[in-house]
Amino acid sequence: MKTPREHFEENDQGQVFAFYDSLSDEEKVNLDQQAAEIDLNELDRLVDTLVRHPGGGNESIADSLEPADCIPLPRSGGHQALWEEATEKGEAALRAGRVAAFTVAGGQGTRLGYDGPKGTFGVTPVLQKSLFQVFAEKILASSRAYGKPIPWYILTSIINHEATVAFFEENEYFGLPSDKVHFFSQGLMPAVDDDGKILLSGRGQIALSPDGHGGALRALVRSGSIREMEADGIDVISYFQVDNPLVRCIDPAFIGFHLLHDSELSSKMVPKAYAEEKVGVFCQQGGKSLVVEYSDLPDRLAGETTDDGELRFRAGSIAIHIFSRSFVDRLGSGIDESAKLPFHLANKKVPFLDASGSLQEPTDPNAYKFEMFVFDALPFAKNPVIIETAREDDFSPVKNADGVDSPQTCRDDQLRQYARWAKAAGIDLATDETGLPGISFEVSPFFGDNEDRFAASWDALTHKPELTDGLVLV
Ligand code: UD1
Repeated sequence: MKTPREHFEENDQGQVFAFYDSLSDEEKVNLDQQAAEIDLNELDRLVDTLVRHPGGGNESIADSLEPADCIPLPRSGGHQALWEEATEKGEAALRAGRVAAFTVAGGQGTRLGYDGPKGTFGVTPVLQKSLFQVFAEKILASSRAYGKPIPWYILTSIINHEATVAFFEENEYFGLPSDKVHFFSQGLMPAVDDDGKILLSGRGQIALSPDGHGGALRALVRSGSIREMEADGIDVISYFQVDNPLVRCIDPAFIGFHLLHDSELSSKMVPKAYAEEKVGVFCQQGGKSLVVEYSDLPDRLAGETTDDGELRFRAGSIAIHIFSRSFVDRLGSGIDESAKLPFHLANKKVPFLDASGSLQEPTDPNAYKFEMFVFDALPFAKNPVIIETAREDDFSPVKNADGVDSPQTCRDDQLRQYARWAKAAGIDLATDETGLPGISFEVSPFFGDNEDRFAASWDALTHKPELTDGLVLV
């Protein structure tokens, strides 16, 4: 049996063990473990196909792309009766306890410039509740409404696992039963230089980073979460990203469409706001559905319009999906050789140890990372369904410190949503032409997490407060 060091040396990756002899016993064990997790054959193949011989390019993707078919909202011409049928179907699944929530929160959140797991970032207008608290309360409100616990699975990574778990413990799981909140860490991939050599971030430390949210599927299987769901009778997994507090974590109509179509993977789309918006686009190619990431869609196609002036490729992916449990099992366990998520390449600045053992902090991208994207599962899914959703009810992510998709735009979108609910319930509230109220207030998901529930709670109040700055409806 070869040692990891021998194995790496034989595969021209011996630099990983360059400082091995100077390490303590514990550090040696640690490095051996990291090395043992790396599949050098897979890495070699990735370096060869993605770094040394990158091929294809945008234009080859573009050739046969068509826009995807989507189920429109009633307001865009969809059938009201169909949406009602889907809602009933989804509600029945929730009452039967078939649904789990799943959040991917393993990313680094570098663009926001916030030091800590992104889910701990405060977003609500008055109380500055964290993203995690918003999701927890929405999930709890839904589980109360349908009379069944909704387990919540949270994907973390080596970067934030401990801090994430500690945050939930400190906050007593925001009222959720602690045995219904499950954390598990995603896989790691090594960063390599231009020659495909694995980099070290310390003498006994490989430069590892999360394997992308596509790694969620194998992490769900490896962590035992899929088996646990099976034992609990859960077959519907409601997937969303950690950056979007407007998301309806549990949406009966969406669940219903997924079940009515016997779909393995369903997705929500919003019409893109403008051609350059940084969202993936749902497309079709060779009879399969797929998401083409914004960076891969040629400008020519992104800007193409139909006769009525609409964007032709307009179905923006807001990274909200429903997976069937059996589909995650099939893809995540790797038993289906024909259904493997591809890796994508990212050219990044990665601090590394040079040959003399000094740490270099590059100012330009010096390394390649490999990531899987969860939406690459779409072409492998049977009966994929894409439904339209209202952006104002499902999507306002916090990605950047300023400008678009920032804490400010997200706060305003939450306020607009509360104001719409308030007005629909007959409350007199002044708003500007974008629907933004002049006051800052907040609605707890327990008071209402949609227009109807808000109206019901409001009507039930014997003493109706005046909506003033700083008011929180709980
Ligand atoms: C993402 C989508 C894009 C979509 C947009 C909607 C990708 C590549 N693109 O863009 O198609 O239109 O959101 O908002 O995802 N994450 C992990 N582990 C990882 C990497 C990321 O859990 O290894 C999680 C992050 O914590 C976050 C989510 O995945 O919740 C999105 O990651 P991010 O890299 O920010 O994607 P975007 O470029 O914003």
